[in-house]
Amino acid sequence: NPEFKLFQYKGFKFISTVHEKEYLDSLENFEIRDTDILAVTYPKSGTIWMQYILALMYYGNDVNGPDGKLTIDVAPWIESEMESLNYNERPSPRVFVSHLPHYLVPKGLRKGRGKVIYLSRNPKDVAVSFYHFHNYSKTLENQNSFDEFFDKFLTGEVFCSSWFDHVKGWFNNSNDFDILFLTYEDMVKDLRTEIMKISKFLGRNCDDRKIDEMVQKCTFQNMKNNKNANYQLLQESFLDHSKGKFLRKGKVGDWKNYFTEEQNETFDKVYQEQMKDCPIELIWDI
Ligand code: PPS
Repeated sequence: NPEFKLFQYKGFKFISTVHEKEYLDSLENFEIRDTDILAVTYPKSGTIWMQYILALMYYGNDVNGPDGKLTIDVAPWIESEMESLNYNERPSPRVFVSHLPHYLVPKGLRKGRGKVIYLSRNPKDVAVSFYHFHNYSKTLENQNSFDEFFDKFLTGEVFCSSWFDHVKGWFNNSNDFDILFLTYEDMVKDLRTEIMKISKFLGRNCDDRKIDEMVQKCTFQNMKNNKNANYQLLQESFLDHSKGKFLRKGKVGDWKNYFTEEQNETFDKVYQEQMKDCPIELIWDI
């Protein structure tokens, strides 16, 4: 089915119906401002969570009221050209989210301009969340079974290619960027501390009240019920809302409900091999 085609662009898999080669070409020279913020993730690592946190941190309550805007419009995807938003004319500071690998982001970011937040998550939970996403996303191919998806995930035959390459690429090239690394698991454990780290890194100096308010609004349940933050208003052409939700479970360790013992062993082997040269200590109870 041509609708579900992935295409390879400079070694990275994009979605034919969502991304455009010409626009991706232009991203290299996309003009970065000192005040720009880019939150980067491999899919299903907590992107829309970070997107909402940054929307609240930068644009206050706008995104939460009845006349509020969607977080996707407030902090849009840098790799998807949304003409209605006209990125170049957006007032500073601009917040973007992205799934791009380190070598495809605008090169201005490498000159110390702008700030990057890289959020990662235990790849086993990523695989499970990604599997479910395929079954309600209208731009990704439905999966027959978790077993089939498991193999594709491990070999990087999925949108955004290999999780290992993505994470290693960003960790190994961190010196090129002004970058903060966070994990989904730390956010689940203690959201307040992680939001304070973000606020400090970005120089926002949010006071206690503001932090409390963000923590409150960003709980799984409150975000799930917030139509501006939960993606339920995203066009039906992208998502079949009757088949699944972005805010699905929000748990650490859901992989244990899906992986067989054998899959777990296979995964651990690949993980050890792939991550042996990774410079950062990984916290996952893998
Ligand atoms: S995407 O498609 O890449 O943008 O998806 P992404 O937003 O990265 O990942 C979706 C998963 O993040 C979980 N999520 C949250 N967990 C806890 N608390 C909050 N507030 C929250 N917001 C999003 C979401 O539930 C998806 O994970 P799973 O495991 O599928 O529930």
